[in-house]
Amino acid sequence: MIYLDSAATSFLKPPQVAEAVCRSFQDIGNAGRGAHAPTLNASRLLYSTREKLAQLFHAEQPSCIAFASNVTQALNTAINGLIAPGDHVITTVCEHNSVLRPLFRKEREGTELSILPADEKGRIHPDRLKKCIRNHTRAIVIHHASNLTGNVTDLKEIAAIAHAAGVLLIVDAAQTAGSIPIDMQEMGIDVLCFTGHKGLMGPQGTGGICVRSGLEIAPFAVGGSGVHSFEREHPSDMPIALEAGTLNGHGIAGLQAALDFILENGVQTIHQKETALMHRFLQGIREIDAITLYGDMDAAVRAPIVTLNIGKMDAAEVSDILWEDYEICVRAGAHCAPLMHSHFGTEQQGAVRFSFSYWNTEQEIDCAAQAIREIAADYEETVYA
Ligand code: ALA
Repeated sequence: MIYLDSAATSFLKPPQVAEAVCRSFQDIGNAGRGAHAPTLNASRLLYSTREKLAQLFHAEQPSCIAFASNVTQALNTAINGLIAPGDHVITTVCEHNSVLRPLFRKEREGTELSILPADEKGRIHPDRLKKCIRNHTRAIVIHHASNLTGNVTDLKEIAAIAHAAGVLLIVDAAQTAGSIPIDMQEMGIDVLCFTGHKGLMGPQGTGGICVRSGLEIAPFAVGGSGVHSFEREHPSDMPIALEAGTLNGHGIAGLQAALDFILENGVQTIHQKETALMHRFLQGIREIDAITLYGDMDAAVRAPIVTLNIGKMDAAEVSDILWEDYEICVRAGAHCAPLMHSHFGTEQQGAVRFSFSYWNTEQEIDCAAQAIREIAADYEETVYA
Protein backbone atom coordinates (compact mmCIF):
# COMPACT_ATOMS: atom_id res chain seq x y z
CA MET A 1 0.00 0.00 0.00
CA ILE A 2 1.16 3.57 -0.74
CA TYR A 3 -0.26 6.11 1.69
CA LEU A 4 -0.60 9.58 0.15
CA ASP A 5 -3.36 10.98 2.37
CA SER A 6 -1.34 12.60 5.13
CA ALA A 7 -3.30 15.86 4.91
CA ALA A 8 -6.27 13.86 6.22
CA THR A 9 -4.26 12.10 8.92
CA SER A 10 -0.71 10.87 9.41
CA PHE A 11 -1.17 7.14 9.00
CA LEU A 12 2.64 6.81 8.95
CA LYS A 13 4.11 7.81 12.32
CA PRO A 14 7.35 7.29 14.24
CA PRO A 15 7.04 3.87 15.98
CA GLN A 16 7.71 5.46 19.38
CA VAL A 17 4.26 7.16 19.19
CA ALA A 18 2.31 3.90 19.54
CA GLU A 19 4.84 2.64 22.11
CA ALA A 20 4.32 5.78 24.24
CA VAL A 21 0.53 5.41 24.08
CA CYS A 22 0.76 1.77 25.24
CA ARG A 23 3.25 2.61 27.99
CA SER A 24 1.03 5.39 29.30
CA PHE A 25 -1.62 2.83 30.31
CA GLN A 26 0.84 1.63 32.95
CA ASP A 27 1.96 5.14 33.94
CA ILE A 28 -0.66 7.82 34.15
CA GLY A 29 -3.66 8.63 36.29
CA ASN A 30 -5.74 11.81 36.02
CA ALA A 31 -3.64 14.98 36.03
CA GLY A 32 -4.33 17.55 38.75
CA ARG A 33 -6.68 15.23 40.65
CA GLY A 34 -4.42 14.12 43.53
CA ALA A 35 -0.83 13.67 44.71
CA HIS A 36 -0.17 9.98 44.15
CA ALA A 37 2.38 8.79 41.62
CA PRO A 38 0.01 8.09 38.69
CA THR A 39 -1.64 11.53 38.91
CA LEU A 40 1.73 13.25 39.23
CA ASN A 41 2.99 11.30 36.23
CA ALA A 42 0.02 12.60 34.25
CA SER A 43 0.65 16.20 35.37
CA ARG A 44 4.32 15.93 34.39
CA LEU A 45 3.36 14.47 31.02
CA LEU A 46 0.98 17.37 30.31
CA TYR A 47 3.50 19.97 31.39
CA SER A 48 6.40 18.58 29.39
CA THR A 49 4.19 18.22 26.30
CA ARG A 50 3.14 21.88 26.68
CA GLU A 51 6.82 22.78 26.95
CA LYS A 52 7.59 20.96 23.70
CA LEU A 53 4.66 22.55 21.88
CA ALA A 54 5.74 25.99 23.15
CA GLN A 55 9.25 25.30 21.85
CA LEU A 56 7.93 24.13 18.48
CA PHE A 57 5.60 27.10 17.96
CA HIS A 58 7.78 29.69 19.75
CA ALA A 59 4.98 30.47 22.20
CA GLU A 60 5.84 32.77 25.11
CA GLN A 61 5.39 30.04 27.71
CA PRO A 62 4.00 26.51 28.13
CA SER A 63 0.87 27.81 29.90
CA CYS A 64 -0.17 29.55 26.65
CA ILE A 65 -1.12 26.12 25.33
CA ALA A 66 -4.41 24.40 26.17
CA PHE A 67 -5.09 20.92 24.84
CA ALA A 68 -8.10 20.21 22.66
CA SER A 69 -9.30 17.08 20.94
CA ASN A 70 -8.66 18.46 17.45
CA VAL A 71 -8.25 21.70 15.50
CA THR A 72 -12.03 22.00 15.00
CA GLN A 73 -12.55 22.12 18.75
CA ALA A 74 -9.72 24.66 19.09
CA LEU A 75 -11.19 26.87 16.35
CA ASN A 76 -14.66 26.68 17.90
CA THR A 77 -13.14 27.76 21.22
CA ALA A 78 -11.35 30.71 19.63
CA ILE A 79 -14.26 31.84 17.45
CA ASN A 80 -16.94 31.47 20.13
CA GLY A 81 -14.77 32.87 22.90
CA LEU A 82 -13.54 35.99 21.11
CA ILE A 83 -16.26 37.03 18.67
CA ALA A 84 -19.61 38.53 19.67
CA PRO A 85 -22.75 39.65 17.83
CA GLY A 86 -22.08 43.09 16.33
CA ASP A 87 -18.41 42.31 15.67
CA HIS A 88 -17.10 42.12 12.12
CA VAL A 89 -14.87 39.20 11.11
CA ILE A 90 -12.83 38.57 7.97
CA THR A 91 -12.15 35.12 6.57
CA THR A 92 -11.42 33.69 3.10
CA VAL A 93 -12.95 31.35 0.51
CA CYS A 94 -10.02 29.01 1.08
CA GLU A 95 -11.14 27.95 4.56
CA HIS A 96 -12.12 24.51 5.75
CA ASN A 97 -15.57 24.01 7.26
CA SER A 98 -13.94 23.99 10.71
CA VAL A 99 -13.54 27.75 10.22
CA LEU A 100 -16.55 28.43 7.98
CA ARG A 101 -19.27 26.65 9.93
CA PRO A 102 -18.51 28.26 13.32
CA LEU A 103 -18.36 31.63 11.51
CA PHE A 104 -21.64 31.02 9.64
CA ARG A 105 -23.22 30.22 12.99
CA LYS A 106 -21.83 33.48 14.40
CA GLU A 107 -23.24 35.28 11.37
CA ARG A 108 -26.72 33.92 12.17
CA GLU A 109 -26.24 35.30 15.71
CA GLY A 110 -25.46 38.81 14.44
CA THR A 111 -21.74 38.86 13.61
CA GLU A 112 -20.89 40.50 10.27
CA LEU A 113 -18.77 38.33 8.03
CA SER A 114 -16.58 39.29 5.05
CA ILE A 115 -15.26 36.42 2.92
CA LEU A 116 -12.24 37.37 0.90
CA PRO A 117 -12.08 35.86 -2.61
CA ALA A 118 -8.98 34.15 -3.99
CA ASP A 119 -7.30 34.55 -7.39
CA GLU A 120 -7.26 31.95 -10.18
CA LYS A 121 -4.59 29.92 -8.37
CA GLY A 122 -6.47 30.04 -5.07
CA ARG A 123 -4.13 32.64 -3.56
CA ILE A 124 -5.09 35.28 -1.01
CA HIS A 125 -3.78 38.81 -1.45
CA PRO A 126 -3.09 40.65 1.83
CA ASP A 127 -3.64 44.10 0.21
CA ARG A 128 -7.20 43.04 -0.67
CA LEU A 129 -7.69 41.79 2.86
CA LYS A 130 -6.60 45.19 4.19
CA LYS A 131 -9.45 46.84 2.29
CA CYS A 132 -12.01 44.65 4.13
CA ILE A 133 -11.08 46.02 7.56
CA ARG A 134 -13.75 48.18 9.20
CA ASN A 135 -13.97 50.08 12.48
CA HIS A 136 -15.61 47.19 14.28
CA THR A 137 -13.49 44.37 12.79
CA ARG A 138 -12.62 42.05 15.66
CA ALA A 139 -10.64 39.29 13.99
CA ILE A 140 -9.18 37.74 10.86
CA VAL A 141 -9.62 33.96 10.88
CA ILE A 142 -7.40 32.39 8.28
CA HIS A 143 -5.61 29.18 7.25
CA HIS A 144 -1.84 28.87 7.31
CA ALA A 145 -2.08 26.42 4.40
CA SER A 146 -5.13 25.46 2.36
CA ASN A 147 -6.05 21.78 2.73
CA LEU A 148 -7.13 21.79 -0.92
CA THR A 149 -4.40 23.68 -2.77
CA GLY A 150 -1.47 23.54 -0.35
CA ASN A 151 -1.02 27.32 -0.85
CA VAL A 152 0.58 28.97 2.18
CA THR A 153 -0.60 32.30 3.61
CA ASP A 154 1.90 35.04 4.45
CA LEU A 155 0.89 35.30 8.09
CA LYS A 156 3.51 37.90 9.00
CA GLU A 157 2.14 40.35 6.45
CA ILE A 158 -1.44 39.69 7.51
CA ALA A 159 -0.52 40.08 11.19
CA ALA A 160 1.01 43.48 10.44
CA ILE A 161 -2.21 44.59 8.72
CA ALA A 162 -4.35 43.16 11.53
CA HIS A 163 -2.39 44.64 14.40
CA ALA A 164 -2.12 48.09 12.81
CA ALA A 165 -5.93 48.14 12.95
CA GLY A 166 -6.26 46.52 16.41
CA VAL A 167 -7.62 43.30 14.89
CA LEU A 168 -6.89 39.77 16.21
CA LEU A 169 -5.24 37.14 14.03
CA ILE A 170 -6.65 33.63 14.56
CA VAL A 171 -4.84 30.95 12.56
CA ASP A 172 -5.93 27.48 11.45
CA ALA A 173 -2.65 25.57 11.31
CA ALA A 174 -4.23 22.16 10.61
CA GLN A 175 -2.08 21.58 7.54
CA THR A 176 1.18 23.15 8.71
CA ALA A 177 1.86 22.32 12.39
CA GLY A 178 4.85 19.98 12.25
CA SER A 179 5.27 20.38 8.47
CA ILE A 180 6.20 24.06 8.08
CA PRO A 181 8.04 26.14 10.72
CA ILE A 182 5.73 28.33 12.83
CA ASP A 183 6.98 31.13 15.07
CA MET A 184 3.95 32.61 16.82
CA GLN A 185 5.82 35.62 18.15
CA GLU A 186 7.74 36.45 15.00
CA MET A 187 4.67 35.93 12.80
CA GLY A 188 2.42 37.92 15.15
CA ILE A 189 -0.18 35.20 15.67
CA ASP A 190 -2.65 35.89 18.49
CA VAL A 191 -4.30 32.47 18.50
CA LEU A 192 -2.89 29.35 16.85
CA CYS A 193 -5.19 26.34 16.47
CA PHE A 194 -3.58 23.00 15.66
CA THR A 195 -4.28 19.31 15.49
CA GLY A 196 -1.99 16.57 16.75
CA HIS A 197 -2.71 13.83 14.21
CA LYS A 198 -1.54 15.38 10.91
CA GLY A 199 1.91 16.97 10.54
CA LEU A 200 2.59 16.52 14.25
CA MET A 201 2.33 12.73 13.67
CA GLY A 202 0.53 12.15 16.98
CA PRO A 203 -2.63 10.20 17.74
CA GLN A 204 -6.10 11.30 16.63
CA GLY A 205 -8.02 13.06 19.42
CA THR A 206 -5.12 15.38 20.23
CA GLY A 207 -4.52 19.02 19.36
CA GLY A 208 -4.76 22.40 20.98
CA ILE A 209 -4.97 26.14 21.06
CA CYS A 210 -2.03 28.42 21.69
CA VAL A 211 -3.04 31.85 22.98
CA ARG A 212 -0.86 34.97 23.16
CA SER A 213 -0.27 36.01 26.81
CA GLY A 214 -2.79 38.54 28.04
CA LEU A 215 -5.54 37.57 25.58
CA GLU A 216 -8.53 36.08 27.41
CA ILE A 217 -10.82 33.66 25.63
CA ALA A 218 -14.22 32.93 27.15
CA PRO A 219 -14.32 29.12 27.45
CA PHE A 220 -16.59 27.12 25.17
CA ALA A 221 -16.87 24.30 27.73
CA VAL A 222 -16.77 24.65 31.52
CA GLY A 223 -16.71 21.96 34.20
CA GLY A 224 -14.23 19.95 36.23
CA SER A 225 -10.81 21.55 36.52
CA GLY A 226 -9.29 19.83 39.56
CA VAL A 227 -8.92 23.22 41.30
CA HIS A 228 -11.23 25.87 42.87
CA SER A 229 -14.01 23.31 43.06
CA PHE A 230 -16.29 25.47 45.22
CA GLU A 231 -16.35 28.37 42.77
CA ARG A 232 -19.29 28.59 40.41
CA GLU A 233 -17.16 29.97 37.58
CA HIS A 234 -14.61 27.91 35.72
CA PRO A 235 -11.04 29.10 36.55
CA SER A 236 -9.82 31.85 34.22
CA ASP A 237 -6.08 31.08 34.33
CA MET A 238 -4.53 29.48 31.26
CA PRO A 239 -4.30 26.68 30.43
CA ILE A 240 -7.07 25.35 32.72
CA ALA A 241 -9.38 28.14 31.48
CA LEU A 242 -9.75 26.26 28.19
CA GLU A 243 -9.49 22.69 29.50
CA ALA A 244 -12.67 21.42 31.19
CA GLY A 245 -12.81 17.73 32.11
CA THR A 246 -10.26 14.95 31.86
CA LEU A 247 -7.83 15.33 28.98
CA ASN A 248 -6.81 12.66 26.49
CA GLY A 249 -3.71 11.74 28.51
CA HIS A 250 -2.97 8.56 26.57
CA GLY A 251 -3.18 10.43 23.27
CA ILE A 252 -1.03 13.23 24.67
CA ALA A 253 1.62 10.64 25.64
CA GLY A 254 1.77 9.68 21.96
CA LEU A 255 1.82 13.32 20.91
CA GLN A 256 4.78 13.94 23.20
CA ALA A 257 6.73 11.09 21.59
CA ALA A 258 5.90 12.52 18.15
CA LEU A 259 7.08 15.98 19.28
CA ASP A 260 10.35 14.48 20.50
CA PHE A 261 10.86 13.04 17.02
CA ILE A 262 9.99 16.34 15.29
CA LEU A 263 12.15 18.49 17.57
CA GLU A 264 15.06 16.09 17.20
CA ASN A 265 14.87 16.06 13.40
CA GLY A 266 13.73 19.67 12.94
CA VAL A 267 10.61 20.94 11.18
CA GLN A 268 12.75 22.48 8.44
CA THR A 269 14.26 19.09 7.60
CA ILE A 270 10.81 17.50 7.51
CA HIS A 271 9.52 20.35 5.35
CA GLN A 272 12.41 20.02 2.90
CA LYS A 273 11.91 16.29 2.49
CA GLU A 274 8.13 16.59 2.01
CA THR A 275 8.62 19.47 -0.44
CA ALA A 276 11.13 17.45 -2.48
CA LEU A 277 8.67 14.54 -2.71
CA MET A 278 5.87 16.90 -3.77
CA HIS A 279 8.03 18.42 -6.54
CA ARG A 280 9.11 14.98 -7.72
CA PHE A 281 5.43 14.02 -8.06
CA LEU A 282 4.63 17.30 -9.84
CA GLN A 283 7.46 16.74 -12.27
CA GLY A 284 6.07 13.31 -13.09
CA ILE A 285 2.55 14.51 -13.92
CA ARG A 286 2.75 18.17 -14.88
CA GLU A 287 3.09 17.69 -18.61
CA ILE A 288 0.03 15.44 -18.97
CA ASP A 289 -2.45 17.31 -21.20
CA ALA A 290 -5.59 16.11 -19.43
CA ILE A 291 -4.42 17.24 -15.97
CA THR A 292 -5.77 20.31 -14.17
CA LEU A 293 -3.82 21.36 -11.09
CA TYR A 294 -5.31 23.51 -8.32
CA GLY A 295 -3.03 25.93 -6.51
CA ASP A 296 0.18 27.86 -6.98
CA MET A 297 2.60 25.03 -7.74
CA ASP A 298 5.55 27.40 -8.22
CA ALA A 299 5.29 29.18 -4.86
CA ALA A 300 8.50 29.25 -2.81
CA VAL A 301 6.76 27.64 0.18
CA ARG A 302 3.92 25.14 -0.11
CA ALA A 303 2.28 22.52 2.08
CA PRO A 304 3.03 19.04 0.67
CA ILE A 305 -0.25 18.75 -1.22
CA VAL A 306 -1.04 18.29 -4.92
CA THR A 307 -4.70 18.40 -5.94
CA LEU A 308 -5.73 17.61 -9.49
CA ASN A 309 -8.36 16.39 -11.88
CA ILE A 310 -8.03 14.30 -15.02
CA GLY A 311 -10.19 15.82 -17.75
CA LYS A 312 -13.82 15.50 -16.74
CA MET A 313 -13.34 12.26 -14.79
CA ASP A 314 -15.15 12.17 -11.50
CA ALA A 315 -12.58 12.58 -8.71
CA ALA A 316 -14.08 9.69 -6.74
CA GLU A 317 -13.66 7.41 -9.75
CA VAL A 318 -9.96 8.36 -10.05
CA SER A 319 -9.39 7.74 -6.37
CA ASP A 320 -11.20 4.37 -6.57
CA ILE A 321 -8.98 3.30 -9.50
CA LEU A 322 -5.90 4.42 -7.57
CA TRP A 323 -6.93 2.25 -4.63
CA GLU A 324 -8.36 -0.76 -6.48
CA ASP A 325 -5.68 -1.07 -9.18
CA TYR A 326 -2.60 0.46 -7.52
CA GLU A 327 -3.23 0.33 -3.74
CA ILE A 328 -2.64 4.07 -3.52
CA CYS A 329 -4.54 6.01 -0.82
CA VAL A 330 -5.63 9.57 -1.69
CA ARG A 331 -8.61 11.74 -0.81
CA ALA A 332 -11.26 12.71 -3.34
CA GLY A 333 -14.45 14.75 -3.04
CA ALA A 334 -14.98 18.19 -1.54
CA HIS A 335 -12.37 18.08 1.25
CA CYS A 336 -14.71 20.06 3.57
CA ALA A 337 -13.67 23.20 1.64
CA PRO A 338 -16.92 24.12 -0.14
CA LEU A 339 -16.10 27.71 -1.14
CA MET A 340 -12.80 26.68 -2.73
CA HIS A 341 -14.63 24.13 -4.87
CA SER A 342 -17.17 26.77 -5.91
CA HIS A 343 -14.23 29.03 -6.74
CA PHE A 344 -12.62 26.39 -8.99
CA GLY A 345 -15.97 25.18 -10.39
CA THR A 346 -15.39 21.66 -9.05
CA GLU A 347 -18.48 21.22 -6.84
CA GLN A 348 -19.74 18.34 -8.97
CA GLN A 349 -16.46 16.77 -10.07
CA GLY A 350 -14.60 17.13 -6.77
CA ALA A 351 -10.81 16.87 -6.93
CA VAL A 352 -8.18 14.25 -6.18
CA ARG A 353 -5.74 15.20 -3.46
CA PHE A 354 -2.29 13.67 -3.00
CA SER A 355 -0.57 14.62 0.25
CA PHE A 356 2.93 13.55 1.17
CA SER A 357 4.74 12.80 4.39
CA TYR A 358 8.26 12.50 5.72
CA TRP A 359 7.84 8.70 5.58
CA ASN A 360 7.05 8.41 1.87
CA THR A 361 9.82 7.23 -0.47
CA GLU A 362 10.83 8.45 -3.93
CA GLN A 363 9.84 5.04 -5.27
CA GLU A 364 6.30 5.48 -3.93
CA ILE A 365 6.08 8.92 -5.53
CA ASP A 366 7.21 7.52 -8.89
CA CYS A 367 4.58 4.75 -8.68
CA ALA A 368 1.87 7.34 -7.99
CA ALA A 369 2.98 9.54 -10.91
CA GLN A 370 3.06 6.48 -13.18
CA ALA A 371 -0.45 5.54 -12.05
CA ILE A 372 -1.75 9.01 -12.93
CA ARG A 373 -0.06 8.87 -16.33
CA GLU A 374 -1.75 5.52 -17.05
CA ILE A 375 -5.20 6.66 -15.87
CA ALA A 376 -4.86 9.87 -17.92
CA ALA A 377 -3.75 7.88 -20.99
CA ASP A 378 -6.82 5.60 -20.69
CA TYR A 379 -9.03 8.66 -20.31
CA GLU A 380 -7.53 10.40 -23.35
CA GLU A 381 -7.92 7.24 -25.39
CA THR A 382 -11.63 7.05 -24.46
CA VAL A 383 -12.31 10.72 -25.09
CA TYR A 384 -10.45 11.03 -28.40
CA ALA A 385 -11.32 7.53 -29.74
N1 ALA B 1 -9.39 18.17 7.24
C1 ALA B 1 -8.87 16.93 6.82
C2 ALA B 1 -8.58 16.90 5.35
O1 ALA B 1 -8.31 17.91 4.77
C3 ALA B 1 -9.60 15.75 7.31
O2 ALA B 1 -8.60 15.84 4.77
